[in-house]
Amino acid sequence: MGNSSRVKRHETADAKPIIRKTPIILGIEASCDETAIAILRANHNGPPDILASLISSQDEAHRPYGGVVPEIAARAHMQKISGLIEKAVRQADLSYTDITAVAATAGPGLIGGVIAGLMAAKGLCLSLNIPLIAINHLEGHALSPRLTQNCPYPYLLLLVSGGHTQILSVTALGKYERLGSTIDDALGEAFDKTAKIMDLGFPGGPKVEAIAKKGDPDTFKLPKPLFGKAHADFSFSGLKTAVLRAWEASNKRETDKANLAASFQKTVCAVLDDRLENAMKAYIAKQAGHISSAPAGTDKPHRFVVAGGVAANKAIRAALNSLCETNGFELIAPPHEFCTDNGAMIAMAGLEHYAQGNFADLSCRPRPRWPLDHLSAKQNPASGSGKKGPKS
Ligand code: KG4
Ligand code: ZN
Repeated sequence: MGNSSRVKRHETADAKPIIRKTPIILGIEASCDETAIAILRANHNGPPDILASLISSQDEAHRPYGGVVPEIAARAHMQKISGLIEKAVRQADLSYTDITAVAATAGPGLIGGVIAGLMAAKGLCLSLNIPLIAINHLEGHALSPRLTQNCPYPYLLLLVSGGHTQILSVTALGKYERLGSTIDDALGEAFDKTAKIMDLGFPGGPKVEAIAKKGDPDTFKLPKPLFGKAHADFSFSGLKTAVLRAWEASNKRETDKANLAASFQKTVCAVLDDRLENAMKAYIAKQAGHISSAPAGTDKPHRFVVAGGVAANKAIRAALNSLCETNGFELIAPPHEFCTDNGAMIAMAGLEHYAQGNFADLSCRPRPRWPLDHLSAKQNPASGSGKKGPKS
């Protein structure tokens, strides 16, 4: 959103947003299966004050189906959203008129939920006569470490969630360059499908992680898609199929579940290690000449951020930690609660765009597809675009 072509004033009466020094931003996230509202107040010398951060999970509603059902998700968002906003304002001990602007996920994601969130945001902006900030959900994840710690640009980002697996070079707000991404399934999806194959429950990632602790990771030999290739792309669909075959050929006991989950997780760590090493080399080559000294408080010359739901996985974090040690990167990861979808990361992106005056028209439309690395090229969420869908 850094590009001036997308910068719009809000369309309410007296439409001249007064840029406040300590804005209070309400963030709305409803692009998948969490309805999430947060309120942040800017702090000029560091991370913002998180005045409220509420998440209403729909796990129970989707559990019988083993995955997110878009229609159920959209209905639940519509039922929950206004009550949750009310609760967040109360929890922050504010009145509505204290809110400076509303930031809402405008895509990518499940269209029914994105519409519900964006409509709620527009209603608030219209009634309070405050600006709307349209946020790319992926940008929320990308900026999530800045919620709780000092994480200056530039950094290398691994974004791993249920819908996305990407490696990006993040050089400034709105400046994202993709160095690698999945050519098929997202990593969170592979975790969810592995859990579904073994009937572990939903959402699958935490279930696989929990049972893997009891298993022997060397029991099953699983393929490592794209391992050893010179680029930094991923592929997880073959791994998922291999898990299915291994499960069907096993005795399907509890020990098989634990061993297969552990083997799957070990394979994922090995794949991440291999792909990320290429990305780190590419990133360092691009950064050459731009970094004058190591970031304060560390002797590592570069920063590596892992974000998105899968970043909650401790085995993956441990693998990333040693990879970073070897390659001169400081590992930065948001706290667990801000790895999975949340409203605070949307409000965080909102704060940064607010500071740059990047506001959206109230006529802006939700974008089911919205690649992050096109943000600086095509900023305004006018309509959906692209062929690959939200995973792109
Ligand atoms: O970021 P997120 O909440 O939603 C999307 O934007 O997709 O990520 C959800 C994904 C799910 O696939 C979930 O299984 C996975 O993150 N996940 C995990 C863990 N916790 C959540 N995967 C592996 N290990 C975990 N502990
Ligand atoms: Zn997400």
